Formats: sequence, C-alpha cells, structure tokens
Amino acid sequence: MSNIGNYEERYKTFTWEQAERELNYRPGGVLNIGWYCSDRICDSGKGDKPALIWEGMGGIEKRFTYHDIRRASNTIGAFLRGLGIQPEDRVCLFMDKIPELYLGVLGILKIGAIGQPLYSAFGDESLFVRLDNAQTKAVITQKKHAPKVRKILDKLPHLQHLIIVDHDGKPLKDREIAFSLEKSEPVEKLEIHPTLAESPSLLHYTSGTTGLPKGVKHVHYSLLSQYMTARWALDVREDDIFWCTADPGWVTGTSYGVIGPWVLGVTQCVLDAGFSAEAWYRFIEKNRITNWYSAPTAIRSLMKAGEEIIKKFDLSSLRALSSVGEPLNPEAVIWSERVFGKAFLDTYFQTETGSIMITNYQGMKIKPGSMGKPFPGTTAVVLDQKTFEPHKESGKIGLIALKPGWPAMMRTYWNNEETYQKKFKNGWYITGDRASIDKEGYFWFVGRDDDIINTGGHLVSPFVVESALIEHPAVAESAVVSKPDPINMEVVKAFVTLKAGFTPSADLDLEIMNFIRKKLSPLAMPQEIEFTDALPKTRSGKIMRRILKAKEWGEEIGDTSTLEND
Ligand code: WT7
Repeated sequence: MSNIGNYEERYKTFTWEQAERELNYRPGGVLNIGWYCSDRICDSGKGDKPALIWEGMGGIEKRFTYHDIRRASNTIGAFLRGLGIQPEDRVCLFMDKIPELYLGVLGILKIGAIGQPLYSAFGDESLFVRLDNAQTKAVITQKKHAPKVRKILDKLPHLQHLIIVDHDGKPLKDREIAFSLEKSEPVEKLEIHPTLAESPSLLHYTSGTTGLPKGVKHVHYSLLSQYMTARWALDVREDDIFWCTADPGWVTGTSYGVIGPWVLGVTQCVLDAGFSAEAWYRFIEKNRITNWYSAPTAIRSLMKAGEEIIKKFDLSSLRALSSVGEPLNPEAVIWSERVFGKAFLDTYFQTETGSIMITNYQGMKIKPGSMGKPFPGTTAVVLDQKTFEPHKESGKIGLIALKPGWPAMMRTYWNNEETYQKKFKNGWYITGDRASIDKEGYFWFVGRDDDIINTGGHLVSPFVVESALIEHPAVAESAVVSKPDPINMEVVKAFVTLKAGFTPSADLDLEIMNFIRKKLSPLAMPQEIEFTDALPKTRSGKIMRRILKAKEWGEEIGDTSTLEND
C-alpha cells in the first residue's frame, strides 16, 4: 500500500490543516524549516540515524547523522550571524553539491536569512544579474568558484562577504573570509530565529521570456507542501534510502533534495560527480537506494547506455521511481518498468509552485505519457486561452492553471511585483504551460505557452541568448529557438544575421560561440548557429521565433498573416 492510499478519497477529504496538525504547527506560531529538518528529528529520538550519505569525485564519502546535520547547520548559522547577517538578508550558496551546500541551506534558514542557491556552473555574468537583483549580502562558495565572484565584486556594493569553505591558507582579499565546517568549534545550541509561516525562506531564479531572470520568493510555510508531496507523490517512507539527483541550485534540489527527505527524517544520498550510467547504477547498488527522483534527460541517457550494463548491478533495492522537469516519454515509462521492474512516475511542478502540483501516485493506474492528477489540496484546470474560463469538455487543449492557496506557492518575484501580478487571470495562477485533461481526469502535457526552451529540464530564455549574441560586433540580429534532440529533448539553436562587411564562416561561428560562452550559463549555450540573410518578422518588426521553430520541428507554420516579407 502506498502512503497516499486511495487517491480519489484523499483528494476529496484532504485540507492543509491536516499537514499543520501532523507537523504540530499552530497557525500564527513559529515555523522554521531549518529546525524542522534537523532539531525536530533529533528531538524525536532519531538523532543517530543517517541523514546524509555524500559521495564526491573519486569515490570519497562523508556521512552525517541527524545530530551531525543539526550541529553543522547550527555552526554555519552561528558563523553567519557572527558576520552580521540579519534576518531576511540574502545569502547565496554558490557551490557544487558538497555537504556545505545542503547544511548551509539549513543554517541560513535557522537564522531567518534568505537562502539564494545558484548553480555552480554559472559564469560571472549569470551570477552578477542574480546577485545584483537580490542585493545579496554574502556568498558562500568554494575556492574553485571564488574567482567568478571576485571578478564582479566591485560592481556589487551590497555584497559584504565572500565566504570560502575550503580555503587553502593563501592571503585573503578585502571582503573575503574563510570558513571550515570541519575545523570550526561545533555549535551545540543555536538560538533559532522565530520565523513565521510567511517569513521568506528561499530565493530561486528562473528564466523569463523577455526580461532578466526572476527571483522566485518562497516562505517557510512551503514546508507543509514539501512534507505532504514527498510523502504522497514521491511515496517517501521512514525506512527509505532516498536519492534526488537534482542540484539544489534548482527548486527540485531544495524542495526534494533538502527539505522533503529531511522533514520526514529519512536518509538521503547525494552523488557529486558527473553523469555516467555505470556510476549511477553503482551508487544505487552501493547505498541500496530505495526511492529515486530523477529527470527525463537522465533517464533517456540511461536508456541509451543500454540494458547489458544494468545486469552488472544489483538494483533490487529500488522501490519507488519518479521524474520531473520535462515531458517524460511513454517509452521511458515502459522501459523503466521492464528493466527495473518499476515504472518512473511523472511529476509536474515549477520553481514558482515550489512543490509537486500534478503527479502520478504509487498504486494508481499509470497512463504512460500522462503527468497524472492534481495533488490533494490543489485545484488544477486547463483554461481557454481567450476567455480564461476552464474548458468544460475533456480532451481540449488549454492553459494549465492552478487555484492559488497551497502552502509552497511563490509569494512574489523579487523586486518585480508587477510581473508576479501578471501571472494571475480570473483568480487563477497561469503556469505558462499547455495541456489537456482526459475523461478520467489525467493531465497530458502539450508544451509551453511561451518561447522558453526546456533543454534537459533546464529553462533557457531565448531573450538572454539573443542579447549575448548581439553584443558580438559581427552580429546584426538574432533569434533563438529550440530544435529537437534525442537526449535533451530540446536544444538551443541560434539564427544570426550579420552586419555589413562580415561573411559567414566556420571561424566566425567559433568566434561567436567563444564570445557568448563567457556570458551564458553552459546550459544556455546554442548547439548550433545558423547564419541567415533575414529573419522572419511581423509587420511591426518583431522577430517571429515560432516560424523558425516550426521549421526546426518539421511542423506546420500556422498563421503567417502578420509576416513582413510574405
Ligand atoms: C517548467 C518548470 C519542476 C522543477 C524543475 C523545473 C516544465 C516540469 C514537467 C513535466 C512536462 C514539465 C514545464 C514547467 N516541466 N515538469 N513533468 N512534464 N514539463 O522547474 O525550471 O521552473 O521549470 O518545466 O514547462 O513549467 P522550472
């Protein structure tokens, strides 16, 4: 029997008060995620249970019990407080998936500061816009990533501390400070800041279609959603060995790579090494992983690696498998059922929703290719694109919309309330995705309603790539769209027109690529640049990405009545 039991029954009867009761939270009272994820588990007598089994490059391993993560997060929290970090100050975590990242999230939350995790592969320009927007006060990083922060330090007057967790003793520069978790005096008791439900917790940046990345503000109350969804959507259980493969630079990696498993007092594993099918299977075998949360791109890569390799490992510990971030192909569901004896269950959410919204459940009939059904305590519909009223008949494609009110919903976009307000129509939160709902209430994902590219589960704004391209002296105009890819589903492709005096060549292609590489996150890099004489435009001069995209995907071009040059 799965944790959720009978889905239909749960959906009918569940209210968020149940989560409040189970977590002993009294409305109006103190609620601190950092405390819930460590101290509370220790108070319940499970302090000696392993909380984190971490493996880094070259197979080195570190283990932390709940007592260890409680103490370590206290130690980090006390250190930050000692530096003068105040409640609601932004503290950025800019690290690989090392233990300090996971423990740092709890430490920051314990002192009431706002955690701002950023993916460690970001270059200095990606980093700058996010630290500038959030007016971040401190960055915690590793020495290998510190140069990227140093490069922009002069442009960031609010940034007071660059904290290096693995400092090698070389002289530190102005505003730099070393912190070593291992060498610090462990802090047994930390005064936890009395955050309330609506106190801000995390700031995650996500790509927009037009402007700069938006900072999605979450609050401590999100805990209730993450707690319930980890239990009922991911079916996380007391004795699970849980592995979420996502990086905490993204929402999946905090909601389900830090908070979900730890509020449930479960043992989780982290592998901080690059992807290889062999390494992943070995990790599952070695740690006897029972519950695995991953992403379609990784699953497609595993499929590509073949079935022979699977036979070399004992993967019989696996009990529950789930996936998130992009459409999960029906073939991947069927394949996983055949090779692991368990199907990957598709789950759907966004940085903005903070927790799983539509999902498949253990024990419920799976329709491969469907995202499943709305989570109890949430109302999901598809809306007519013109009237913003829910479609009455099943099977019709519309905008996925959610009724606001679940605990993990974002509270605003940082410094951008106006864009936040635009996400609501007729009392619905508009996700920006399209889907249909079948007769049995299953959701079928169709695509995004904007030009954002989802490559391997990472959202890329065409605007950001185009802006980087046109900074190159040879580039006159650019348009960035997705093209199909067998592993990443979509990859980034750029169309470029050149200024007079420049001619297309392989050398110029390389030069432009190297130029934008310095400006973009590696995930946003185009796979291909196509030089062209002209870009399709509307009569008002707006570049029509959808025409270029349709060509790449071999689709009908659709209405071109507003095209300039037809
Ligand atoms: C966008 C959100 C969800 C956490 C990681 C990404 C797409 C997400 C699915 C799914 C099809 C999906 C949507 C969504 N997406 N899950 N199961 N099937 N598409 O968070 O970076 O905010 O991206 O990812 O387009 O809006 P994010």
